[in-house]
Amino acid sequence: MKVLITGATGGIGRALIKVFYRNGWEILAVGRNQNMLTELKEKYKEKLNIYSLDIEVEKNIDELFKSLEGQHIKLLINGAGIGELGYFEDISYGVEKRMIDINIIALIKFTKYFYGKTEGIINISSTAGFQYGGPLMTGYYATKSFINSFTFGLMGEGGKTRMMLLCPGPTLTNFKGVNKELKGLAKFYTTTPEEVAEKCYSDYLKGKRISIPGKINKILYFFNKMMPIMFQLKVIKKIQEKKTKK
Ligand SMILES: NC(=O)c1ccc[n+]([C@@H]2O[C@H](COP(=O)([O-])OP(=O)(O)OC[C@H]3O[C@@H](n4cnc5c(N)ncnc54)[C@H](OP(=O)(O)O)[C@@H]3O)[C@@H](O)[C@H]2O)c1
Repeated sequence: MKVLITGATGGIGRALIKVFYRNGWEILAVGRNQNMLTELKEKYKEKLNIYSLDIEVEKNIDELFKSLEGQHIKLLINGAGIGELGYFEDISYGVEKRMIDINIIALIKFTKYFYGKTEGIINISSTAGFQYGGPLMTGYYATKSFINSFTFGLMGEGGKTRMMLLCPGPTLTNFKGVNKELKGLAKFYTTTPEEVAEKCYSDYLKGKRISIPGKINKILYFFNKMMPIMFQLKVIKKIQEKKTKK
């Protein structure tokens, strides 16, 4: 059983590798960070193959697909993603575009190639994807909203490949905008990458469509639907503003 994971060098990706390895899977790990990829190879040996590429560049992905020809991959996890924190007017067009190229275009490209070939595809979105918008992380929230809609659309089409949406809330990784000093409510809804990976794996085995790690995040997901738009945007703005002042 082979799983291909993009974002394998990141906090959530590495935790996913641990869980899949423990359950007897072979892993194809995609990332850019060569040191981290080498570390992963040394740790998991013949059970893991590394693919070092920048997925912002489409031709790199095409070359990867060529090199994978003939391999039977059972599961794809689209995990690579970047975020940017700040007011829209302070973030350059280039950064907004990079977010779209990595979070959306690369995800579509991988899905296009593997859809119909693999048993499943897990798209890593975020609880952010369920919000009306995300002031001070406007572009990032919008990309996650796209991933939700795109994944639900494919679920609705009901093709051969089973789609699952993984929506972590704030998780303790190096991801931009993650607050590592947990104060107040954040202590209750912030998860570890290990919790996210365990939940992702068990929900996939159960055939779930949406996986939301952390009990509070799940409650907030339901509560969210009842919140007036402007109230929700104000709360998010307050949370993000605090992060920019660090
Ligand atoms: N942490 C959170 O609070 C949180 C919450 C909800 C959703 N998420 C989502 O979870 C996913 C994983 O995030 P994380 O928390 O594990 O963050 P992370 O530690 O920053 O990892 C991000 C991953 O994306 C990869 N990546 C970024 N740009 C790339 C590029 N141009 N080419 C190839 N790979 C690239 C990174 O690879 P290199 O480092 O090798 O470049 C790394 O493996 C993301 O989609 C994120 O949106 C995170």
